[in-house]
Amino acid sequence: MSDSTPFVLILYYSRSGATADMARQIAAGVESMPGIEARLRTVPPVSTTCEAVAPEIPEEGAVYADLDDLRHCSALALGSPTRFGNMAAPLKYFLDTTSSLWMNGALIDKPACAFTSTSSLHGGQESTLLTMLIPLLHHGMVYAGIPYNETALLNTKTGGTPYGASHVAGSRSDRSVDEHERALCLAQGKRLAKLALALHAMRQEESA
Ligand SMILES: Cc1cc2nc3c(=O)[nH]c(=O)nc-3n(C[C@H](O)[C@H](O)[C@H](O)COP(=O)(O)O)c2cc1C
Repeated sequence: MSDSTPFVLILYYSRSGATADMARQIAAGVESMPGIEARLRTVPPVSTTCEAVAPEIPEEGAVYADLDDLRHCSALALGSPTRFGNMAAPLKYFLDTTSSLWMNGALIDKPACAFTSTSSLHGGQESTLLTMLIPLLHHGMVYAGIPYNETALLNTKTGGTPYGASHVAGSRSDRSVDEHERALCLAQGKRLAKLALALHAMRQEESA
């Protein structure tokens, strides 16, 4: 892939690995579409000690996102574990550094989606997904959920919502992403990639 290939930024935080696993499934969905690639990025934890510093490169997994990843993406998939029915602080902390992009309208007309993982079935997946959408709307992004022609939405007994992909990781955070949850991650990634290509073409036409 060349530097000019459009990419979907899959930006997530994950402490025990469930959201990271979902991010990889969404990336597989993105990469099932020709002409676009997935870029996986994470954010560092927020420290309770003011002066603690983390290494610039994480010991494993995706590297940390910077503002250029967001500036140049053609779409964004934002993933967070649920924390008291809302997104995790490290992701919110990163979003709070994006004012310069907001002032320049860098994300306007780019599609976005959200995904989350919880311990419990009714532990706040939908409130997390809906509140993750709010900063994306402020940025002028076009939010994409999951439509009901994805039959896993009707058949799942665990995660998966029309507001975005979700996963029930269990009280020990060790339950794997199941068949229906995976199908919805793949579908969400693929749909976002399709929308990214369409809106990328639209923006190029407008700026020509
Ligand atoms: C501070 C805190 C708050 C949490 N709040 C919720 C919650 O509201 N509902 C829930 O079901 N799980 C909650 N959890 C559990 C995580 O959402 C769950 O373990 C998730 O799958 C972790 O994702 P990860 O493996 O990507 O870190 C919470 C965990 C922590 C540490």
